[in-house]
Amino acid sequence: MKHQEESFASLKEMAMVACRNSYSPYSKFSVGAAVMGDDGRAFAGCNVENASYGMTQCAERNAVGAAISAGCKAGSLLTLVIYTPGDTAHPPCGACRQVMHELMAADSRVISCCDNDEFRVWAQHEHLPDAFIFPEGS
Ligand code: THU
Repeated sequence: MKHQEESFASLKEMAMVACRNSYSPYSKFSVGAAVMGDDGRAFAGCNVENASYGMTQCAERNAVGAAISAGCKAGSLLTLVIYTPGDTAHPPCGACRQVMHELMAADSRVISCCDNDEFRVWAQHEHLPDAFIFPEGS
């Protein structure tokens, strides 16, 4: 439990630092995320928007992508922390849930936090019921 609290604190700090790099001139909504793998390494990401709005990359997917790019294996990511400035802990979008479902561990957790002590926690398996999986044999 103490170990979990320590990893939450360090992941929140990393997510806050990444959030400062958010490129969000359109929504003006900054998001930072940090994810830890089963080898203890952690990776951060922020949201990166684009004038072609649909090209926007969410913080969570950038953090997960950084972890996979650094060699973390699909299913090895244990905890992902999302940070947004302000007084509300925001839930992740559906697209990020789909990506987390595939790349994080089945028993992993997602924690959203903000500038006060409020936080929300989701178990990966309750996060996206009936997630899409690639059809066998196609
Ligand atoms: N955003 C994230 O980074 N993560 C989410 O889970 C939801 C939304 C970003 C995308 C966009 O830059 C801004 O927040 C507003 O949607």
